[in-house]
Amino acid sequence: MASNKAQKEIEKLRTEIQRHDVLYYAEDRPEISDREYDRLMQRLKDLESRRPEWATPDSPTQRVAGKVQEKFAAATHRAPMLSLDNTYNADELWDFHNRVVKNIGSASDVEYVVENKIDGLGVALTYEDGRFVRGATRGDGIKGEDVTANLKTIKSIPEEIPDDKREGIRELEVRGEVYMRKSGFKELNDQRIAVGLAPFANLRNSAAGSLRLLDHKITATRPLDILVYQIGYMDREPFATQVEVFDKLKSMGFPTNRRDLCKNLEGVIKLIEQWKAEKESLDYDVDGLVIKVNSIKYQEKLGSTAKHPRWAVAYKFETEQAQTKILDIVCQVGRTGSITPVANLEPVQVSGSTVARATLHNEDEIRRKDVRVGDTVIIEKAGEVIPKVVQVVEIPGESRGEPFVMRSDCPECKTPLHRAEGEAAWRCVNAACPAQLKERLWHFASRKAMDVDHLGPAIVDQLVDKEMVKTFSDLYKLKLEDLASLERMAEKSAQNLVDALEKSKTAGFDRLLFALGIRLVGQRAAAVLAQSYGSMENLLKADADELGEIMEIGPGIAQSLVDFFDEEINREEIRRLSELGIVMQAEVRETSGKLKGKQFVLTGTLESLSRESAKEKIQEQGGRITTSVSKKTDYVVAGADPGSKLTKAEKLGVPVLNEEEFKKLLD
Ligand code: IVH
Repeated sequence: MASNKAQKEIEKLRTEIQRHDVLYYAEDRPEISDREYDRLMQRLKDLESRRPEWATPDSPTQRVAGKVQEKFAAATHRAPMLSLDNTYNADELWDFHNRVVKNIGSASDVEYVVENKIDGLGVALTYEDGRFVRGATRGDGIKGEDVTANLKTIKSIPEEIPDDKREGIRELEVRGEVYMRKSGFKELNDQRIAVGLAPFANLRNSAAGSLRLLDHKITATRPLDILVYQIGYMDREPFATQVEVFDKLKSMGFPTNRRDLCKNLEGVIKLIEQWKAEKESLDYDVDGLVIKVNSIKYQEKLGSTAKHPRWAVAYKFETEQAQTKILDIVCQVGRTGSITPVANLEPVQVSGSTVARATLHNEDEIRRKDVRVGDTVIIEKAGEVIPKVVQVVEIPGESRGEPFVMRSDCPECKTPLHRAEGEAAWRCVNAACPAQLKERLWHFASRKAMDVDHLGPAIVDQLVDKEMVKTFSDLYKLKLEDLASLERMAEKSAQNLVDALEKSKTAGFDRLLFALGIRLVGQRAAAVLAQSYGSMENLLKADADELGEIMEIGPGIAQSLVDFFDEEINREEIRRLSELGIVMQAEVRETSGKLKGKQFVLTGTLESLSRESAKEKIQEQGGRITTSVSKKTDYVVAGADPGSKLTKAEKLGVPVLNEEEFKKLLD
C-alpha cells in the first residue's frame, strides 16, 4: 500500500517536472520559480534513491543538464565499416550487376547471396583466442564507441567460440546488426507511457538508445538481439564464399542473418516480392534486402569506393506513406540563413514511428502542391530522411483554408528575406541573425563536430540572447562566473561545461573543419582534407584547382573552401581559435611519413592489393591521391589495363610505377 503510494508520487513528479521543462525550455513561459523547480527535483531524487528499482534512465533526475555523462571509449575499427549503395528497382539492380560483370571481367552469370537488410545498428565484435573481448558501434565507420559491457547483455552473442570451431583463427572480428525485437518494443513503450514518458519513436532509435545507455544493467532489460552477416577481419586465409562465411559463423555459435544463394540476378529479382511479403512475420524490422557477390575472390577484386563496397548493394523497399492533417505551417531558419517551411501535423504512425512534422522544402514546392493549413495530406518517410508531404488529398465537400503565403521577414530577427536568382530558398541575409548563430553554435558543439558535452540548445539560446557569444571563439573565452550566471545553471554544471569546452580543444583538425560549417564540407570531406593536408596552415595555402584534384573533394567543395578562406572574417576567427589553443593539426597517422606531400594517381587493376588498400597505404605514409594526372603528380601507379592516365603521365613525363616498384616504394 505504502509503496504503491510512493510509486504514484514518483510518476506524478516526473510528469510534472517534464511539463515544467517544456514550459521553461520550449515555450519560454515558466509557471514556477527555479527554487520550486529544484524542490520538485529533490523530492523525486529522494524517492528514487529509496526505491532504486523504479529509477529509469529516462527519469528527469537522470537527464538534467549538467549530469556528468561518461563517454564510451573510442574504438577504431581494423578496417572501415562501410555503408551500402542503395537501389530501388530492378533496373538499378541490373546496373549494379553490369558493373560487377564488367569489373570482374567474366561471363555474365554471377552468384549472389540475398540477405535481409535489418534496420538496427551495425556493430563489430572482436574475439581473441576465441573469447569475446570487445564490441563497438559502427560510429562514423572509422571509429565507433566501445560498448562491450552493453553487448555482453545480449545473450545470443557467444562469450566464447569453442576451440574446435575456430578454424585456427586467433583474431576475429564479426560484424552484424543489433536490433530491437518488435514483440518487446510495444511492451517497453507501454511501460514508458504508463509512467508519463514519451514512447520511443521507432525500433532503430530505441535499439541505438538502449545499446548506448551508460548503465548496462538497464540495457539488459531491453529486448535487444543480434544477427551477424560478415567477417570484418581475421588472421587466416579468407573463406571461399559468402555462404561459407555464414556457415562458419553459424557453427561458431553466432545467430546468422537469413540468406539465400541465387545462381544469377534473375534469381535475385524473383526473390524480392516473396521476401518483402515475409518480412512482416519476422520479429525485427527489415527495410530492404542486401545483395552480395558470393565469391570472396570476386569481392576482393571488386574492392570498394570510399563509401561502399562494389560487391554488394542494398535493395530498399518502397517507402511507406500515411494520411494526416496539417495543423500549421511554420518557417525554420537554418545555419546559413535558409528558410525552410515545415508543416506541423496531426501525429500519425509511419513505418513504425510517430510523425508530427514534415518538411515542405520551399515556397515553390508548397505552391506546386498547393498545400494549405487544414489540408489532409499524404506524407512519407524514407529511411533516415525527414518525412515529407507528398500531396494533398482532396476531400469532396470539405472547404479549404487560404493559399499559403510565404512570410517576408525572418521569423527570428525580422530582417526582410531575400531570394537569389535561380535559388529555391529564401534567406535571412543578416549575418548576425541570432537564429543562424544558434544553429551554427549548435552544429559546432554537436557530437560529430567538436563534441562539447553539456552545451545544449537551452544554454546556446541564453548565450546568444544575452549577447555573451557572437562567434565560436567566444565560447572558449567564457569564464566560470559567466556561465554560472545563466539560468538553471548550477556551479557544478558550469564547471562541467568549462571542462567540456577545454576538452573539445583537442577534438582534432578533421572535427574542427566539419564544425566550422563550411558549405558542402561534411564529415567525410573534412576527414579527407585533414588527412591530405595535415594542418590548417597547409590547407589555407591550397588553391581551388589543387583542392578539386583530391579524390572525394571535387570542384564544388573546393570552391566553397576557397570562398570561405577568402573571407578575412573567417581567417581572423581561425586565428583566434588557434590562439585559444584549438588543435589545428591532424593526428599524424603516418608511420614513417616518407611519402609526405607526394601526389599519387592510381590507374588500372593491381594484382595483389585492392585499390582501397593501395590508397590506405599511401595515405598512411602521408601521401595524397588525386583523380587525374597533372604536372603536380609525383607518381602514377599503373596496374593492368591502365588506360588514358598512363598516356597522359608519359606525355607529361610523370614517373610511372608498376606494381613491383610501387610495393618497393611502400616498404
Ligand atoms: S553488409 C560493407 N549486410 O546496413 C557491407 N549490412 O546501409 C556493409 N545492414 O552499415 C555491411 N543488414 O549496419 C550488411 N545483411 C546486411 C545488413 C547490413 C543491415 C546495415 C549495416 C550497414 C548498413 C549499410
